[in-house]
Amino acid sequence: MPSARLTIDPHFSIGPIRRKLFGGFVEHLGRHVYDGIYEPGHETADAEGFRTDVIDLVRELGVDTIRYPGGNFVSGFRWEDSVGPVAQRPRRLDLAWHSTETNEVGLHEFASWLDKVGSDLMMAVNLGTRGTLEAIDLLEYSNIAGGTALSERRIANGRIEPFNVRMWCLGNEMDGPWQLGHRSADDYGKIASQAAKGMRQLDPDVQLVVCGSSSAHMPTFGEWERVVLTHTYDDVDLISCHAYYEERGGDIGSFLASAVDMDGFIESVVATADHVKAVRGSSKQIDISFDEWNVWYLERYHGVDKIEGIDNWPIAPRLLEDVYSVVDAVVFGNLMISLLKHADRVASASLAQLVNVIAPIMTEPGGPAWRQTTFFPFSITSRLARGEALRVKLDAPTYETEAYGEVSLVDAVATHDAEAGRSAVFLVNRSTTEPVTLTIDVAALGEVAVVESHTISDDDVYAKNTLDDRERVSPKPNDTARIAGGELTITLPPVSWTAIALA
Ligand code: AHR
Repeated sequence: MPSARLTIDPHFSIGPIRRKLFGGFVEHLGRHVYDGIYEPGHETADAEGFRTDVIDLVRELGVDTIRYPGGNFVSGFRWEDSVGPVAQRPRRLDLAWHSTETNEVGLHEFASWLDKVGSDLMMAVNLGTRGTLEAIDLLEYSNIAGGTALSERRIANGRIEPFNVRMWCLGNEMDGPWQLGHRSADDYGKIASQAAKGMRQLDPDVQLVVCGSSSAHMPTFGEWERVVLTHTYDDVDLISCHAYYEERGGDIGSFLASAVDMDGFIESVVATADHVKAVRGSSKQIDISFDEWNVWYLERYHGVDKIEGIDNWPIAPRLLEDVYSVVDAVVFGNLMISLLKHADRVASASLAQLVNVIAPIMTEPGGPAWRQTTFFPFSITSRLARGEALRVKLDAPTYETEAYGEVSLVDAVATHDAEAGRSAVFLVNRSTTEPVTLTIDVAALGEVAVVESHTISDDDVYAKNTLDDRERVSPKPNDTARIAGGELTITLPPVSWTAIALA
């Protein structure tokens, strides 16, 4: 059995863990909003038509700030359609997802849902087919107390207090040829700078996120960040990263190492942002908003799901409804480890998405809501990762992957909350065949005991939770964990994700 060794010391802090690292993303896409969070006829629906079984699961998931309303959707979105009396709201074609948007749920309704789930709003403006004026109009509508045309319109629409939205995305994936209004880095950088300046003239305290690359594998990656930040460095606070991973061609070894790619992506964007900082002689630091990340079987979307036809614009079609397996959950948990390992520069992150659409929560119209396998690493990490993220010393065997060369069999990060006297360790074993015996040197933490241990693994790594078998996969206590003489030993099964809480 391979063995590995890990040392944890609370002196080696990466940085404080900002709660925004555990953010989510709700896009008007498929059955996310309609027949997902909103289903007025459902037996659990509240007076506003929101499913309370879904609200309970979102609360259990532990999601902080939620990005809205897209995604690709936002690049064709007229925000004015989504406010005012519902009966008068127009139906629109959503070109991004080839669907019909009814606008039954808009800004006011979504803000009310956010209050119910206990999360903050992070809003994206349309810089694909619209510009600075529409962005500042939406900001005025959202954040000005009253006495102007748009703030009074909000009040007339039933919301007296401003929405007071703090985080704003300046468009979505503007580097992607699929994006409505896709632009060159130079063109987008100029527009983003103008929109940001205008928005700050109105509300100087908003946090602004400029679009980085849609993935580290875009042909413009790196140069896009350099050019866009050269235009916007003084105007924005954060640059976005987006990344989705999937198992391709049966190459499970590379898939299990997806976090290696995420680590490299983050480090390259940090290097590029710091390069622009150096060239400008600036003292300001630009951090990352990793505002779309997940496992997504994109090949399946292009092959099976995609909707076409001039007469075919369905409402809330079943789109991007990936059903996640144990191996997907292990990769997903490892992506969260990567985010925590970069907590000094990743200020905010949004799991894409939340309900039905590449989501940890699934629903059936008129039926139940349930947890996908990926629900568990998110809810457990969000609950246990508190205080500071810690740099760990890891000695582990390696294996060879087609996509990333030689990679570690084990990945790990630790967290430490000095005030609460609690620590946590998050681990993956990427071996498809062998359990790993891990020895963790915890002496620097003082006298500690294991208070929780959870492992996700299964003899069938492709086991899933489905409508017919909703609890097939769940985390189990890992009772191999033992502490003696300042050392914790634990066995990590093949293809597994583990969290240990110490107090
Ligand atoms: O999350 C699904 C889609 O992925 C988003 O709409 C888009 O921003 C990205 O390409």
